[in-house]
Amino acid sequence: MRYLITGGAGFIGSHLVSKIIDNAEKIIILDNLLTGSEKNINKYFDLSNFQFISHDIQNHYDPEENIDCVIHLASCASPVAYVENPINTLKSGSIGTINALGIARKYNSSFLLASTSEIYGDPKISPQHEEYWGNVNPVGPRSMYDESKRFAEAATQAYITEYKLNAKIVRIFNTYGPNMKLDDGRVVTNFIVQALKNKDITVFGKGLQTRSFSYVDDTVNGIMLASSYKKPDIFNIGNDNEITINQLAQTIIDITNTKSQIIYKDLPKDDPLQRKPDLSKSKKLLNYEPVIGLEKGLEKTIEWVKKNID
Ligand SMILES: NC(=O)c1ccc[n+]([C@@H]2O[C@H](COP(=O)([O-])OP(=O)(O)OC[C@H]3O[C@@H](n4cnc5c(N)ncnc54)[C@H](O)[C@@H]3O)[C@@H](O)[C@H]2O)c1
Repeated sequence: MRYLITGGAGFIGSHLVSKIIDNAEKIIILDNLLTGSEKNINKYFDLSNFQFISHDIQNHYDPEENIDCVIHLASCASPVAYVENPINTLKSGSIGTINALGIARKYNSSFLLASTSEIYGDPKISPQHEEYWGNVNPVGPRSMYDESKRFAEAATQAYITEYKLNAKIVRIFNTYGPNMKLDDGRVVTNFIVQALKNKDITVFGKGLQTRSFSYVDDTVNGIMLASSYKKPDIFNIGNDNEITINQLAQTIIDITNTKSQIIYKDLPKDDPLQRKPDLSKSKKLLNYEPVIGLEKGLEKTIEWVKKNID
């Protein structure tokens, strides 16, 4: 298989490359390194089946060689990054997705869009299944991300309808693991860094809001299962073990044996109160099953953070 992966130098992209590099005929990474890093992928630079191209997916790109599978990950993904780069985020999801779809169309390749649970917004139902339309504020503080992904889904659907593209949409729920940026405000790494430095652990709101955290190996497994699914479809991918943010903080405190205390700050506007994927469709059609429990995944992540913290 010859892959083109946009955003492949980021957190999830680097794990995806690691999973498929041994059996791939070719992997081309397009990434502008806005939030990703060469450090995540430089161990592949000498391989003949790997190519990194510094490129912003807002701009047209034609690989001029056959591609079997386009995986479109390029987007700011953390609240810090998308609030700092609202226009780039919107353009990655809109023009960037059209550009990535155009490559798939030209080479008649399969296509996978990395969408997000954020398209469900602050959901009015739980767990969230793929038929749910969401509850999103189109002009709120997170709208540049949520709406860019909603547009990206609409664009992908249009290419399926009009050009019969074999495209899949995966709605990824909170994923964590090694290679995450340590300063981009995502809750798992925030808490781990605070715990390892014996600093206060900052919980927003009362900490009763829920999330369902997926270790990156499970997410990447789900992405690849969806990618090789025979026809266009939409899948939730993540882990359905729902916990409160307080429980996450306490688990990290217990594993790290830190002296840190939990402190509470105001809940940011439009922060979703509930996040739990309904995975029944992915389990049934893809045979997807997350296998790495929270404690095990956190232990692996904490070990990596210890080696990479300043
Ligand atoms: N990690 C999660 O919990 C999560 C959850 C839901 C969805 N996702 C989606 O998965 C994808 C990967 O997320 P991640 O967590 O690895 O984030 P990340 O920030 O580590 O990776 C994104 C990559 O895209 C690149 N990029 C950003 N804008 C670009 C542009 N305009 N042109 C080219 N490259 C660009 C970045 O440099 C980075 O390497 C994103 O699309 C994200 O929305 C992630």
